[in-house]
Amino acid sequence: MADKAFKRILVSSALPYANGPIHIGHLAGAYIPADLYVRYQRLKGRDIVYICGSDEFGVAIVMRAIGEGVTPRDIVDRYHPLIKSSFAEIGMSFDHYGRTSNPMHEETSQDFFRRLSERGHFVLKTDEQLFDPEAGVFLADRFVQGICPICNAEGAYGDQCESCGSSLSPAEILNPRSTLTDAAPILRETTHWYLPLGRWQPRLEEYIASHPEWKTNVRGQIGAWFTDGLRDRAITRDVPWGVPVPTEIAEAAGVDAEGKVIYVWFDAPIGYISATREWARKIGDPDRWERYWKDPETMLLHFIGKDNIVFHTLMFPAMLMGYGDYVVPENVPANEFLTIEGKKLSTSRGWAVWLHEYLEVFPPDLLRYALAATLPETKDADFSWKEFQLRVNSELADILGNFIHRAITFATREFDGRVPPLVEPDARDLETLEYLRKFPARIGRSYERFRLREAVAETINLARLGNKYFNDAEPWKTLKTDRRACGNTVHVSLQICAALRVLVEPVLPFTSAKLQAMLHVEGVRSSAPGGESDRPVGWDEAGGSLLAAGHFVDPPEILFRKLDDDVIEAQINKLAGEPAMPYEDPKDTATFDDFVKLDLRTGTVVTVERVKKSKKLLRLDVDLGYERRQILAGVAEHFGPADLIGRRVVAVANLKPRKMMGLESQGMLLMAEDRSGKLTLVTADGENGAVVR
Ligand code: MF3
Ligand code: ZN
Repeated sequence: MADKAFKRILVSSALPYANGPIHIGHLAGAYIPADLYVRYQRLKGRDIVYICGSDEFGVAIVMRAIGEGVTPRDIVDRYHPLIKSSFAEIGMSFDHYGRTSNPMHEETSQDFFRRLSERGHFVLKTDEQLFDPEAGVFLADRFVQGICPICNAEGAYGDQCESCGSSLSPAEILNPRSTLTDAAPILRETTHWYLPLGRWQPRLEEYIASHPEWKTNVRGQIGAWFTDGLRDRAITRDVPWGVPVPTEIAEAAGVDAEGKVIYVWFDAPIGYISATREWARKIGDPDRWERYWKDPETMLLHFIGKDNIVFHTLMFPAMLMGYGDYVVPENVPANEFLTIEGKKLSTSRGWAVWLHEYLEVFPPDLLRYALAATLPETKDADFSWKEFQLRVNSELADILGNFIHRAITFATREFDGRVPPLVEPDARDLETLEYLRKFPARIGRSYERFRLREAVAETINLARLGNKYFNDAEPWKTLKTDRRACGNTVHVSLQICAALRVLVEPVLPFTSAKLQAMLHVEGVRSSAPGGESDRPVGWDEAGGSLLAAGHFVDPPEILFRKLDDDVIEAQINKLAGEPAMPYEDPKDTATFDDFVKLDLRTGTVVTVERVKKSKKLLRLDVDLGYERRQILAGVAEHFGPADLIGRRVVAVANLKPRKMMGLESQGMLLMAEDRSGKLTLVTADGENGAVVR
């Protein structure tokens, strides 16, 4: 129930698939709103834990691996660290960020599978499924593409049509093709476990009915599912990557467990639980997780995007109810989609703004603010770079930054940075202080109802109020005519600054830290995980008098620089371009002695041929002047023989020879690899055999 008082809160953001970097569509759906909410609650002093992690299984990751000719493990090991660090840089304040390939997750998922199986919550079915005769594998989910039976769009996947959003099964796809080989699939028998969701429908309907306060976009989608009637959902797959079906369960059922894994949408939400268990272990209190999952006084909240609604409101709750002992989600504040410059976000067409690329150019708080102010809370919303610029320049810089700057500058210049006492305040001072006192509760109401846009707008309103008050009170005039009144204006203005230092923290944590460095507000709680929840000044105190008379403040630094048109134009032009990986970290220092150990020589490529049975290797003969060398280079996917023959190169001439595909490689060519993985040959003019140093 909406008004039940809970003792503690457990918040999750959808676990992102570790098969690509994070973009602003992700951020606007499940991350920014959750982080604002969590930081707000931490400032309120609530007992709250915030969990997320990488979703590392699933067919999408296998497909990406096949496409690149690497293993699924390579894919997740590339993207998990990238996602984790870009989240940290944008200020996501998870208590724990896990990954579903961790052992704790396999253990927890298998435990769930076992218990639900033992309790008779599964059914086994053998039927014919699509099989790729060329690749020799069953075609689950995204391995099948064809025409959507609902909207007739081309390119619908075996599990979902991205045009109309319908959830599908591979057998329903019209004109199916294998996405692996493009072959027409054949039918073959296989056995799988199913979760008969229909059995849960009455209990789920009751559960959803008890939450009239949920967002209408969420309730609307669920209603449509109920009307259709919930069906059995397969919860295992024949793919070589995932949490294995527990062998003893397969054996007892007379099914060959080899190659059977738990469906990613069964294991991923359990990732919230396994990540909470990892968190508890990390803080040295390994049983503590249970309190957040099993005590009915916990409020469980899942922040997600619209495409995840059914899994979080129906399937996962049914799993939790089936297991027993667990709490079920108290709310699932799902967001709609974010479009970019009026067009649907598409990673394949490059129509996206990538977080790690954004962070190379702009400070994190600007995006946090711009997204929070435009969240697709009830309907789709649009992100445009012009609006981003406008919000930064006319809201952050002109309203918030400007108010703080003029108030603190005035105090520093005219009152030596000391907060003047409040002496016989006039009506405007009192009215403003009274208004200020109400602000935390006013913004808080919006946070509590998951109206994050409104919360952010209200927060800026406080800075607006500050500006108006400062203008109307005209302290630059009273400075000469009525020093008491002038002091009062500065006093009240600085209290507003101090309130802002606390109240902007959920949306602008980095700015809040800068404000703290100027204002030195004492005893303020942190919105960071594990941060000083016992400090006396939190959200509820922010509207009071936070700065005593005589308290010293430092001269202000500029909080927000205005964004010029050309940086914004550059971002607009960048859309639809190739996403680049981040720059590689600089390497450790090498000494000059380290460097001269390498014998680098110039040479000329005189022969180039492909190495039989190898996709990657070329065999080259390189003339180094004083001798000829056979060099094997793993570049056949980048260069053909014609690109290299006759080229002037730089070779490492004293590299220990090594054998590849039965041939000895006696050196290495220097190449530069850019962030998209493209190679360029390093070349040099002059005579063969010249020493490079
Ligand atoms: N990886 C999924 C997605 O990006 C979300 C998983 S949420 C969880 O759509 F609940 F399953 F973890
Ligand atoms: Zn469709």
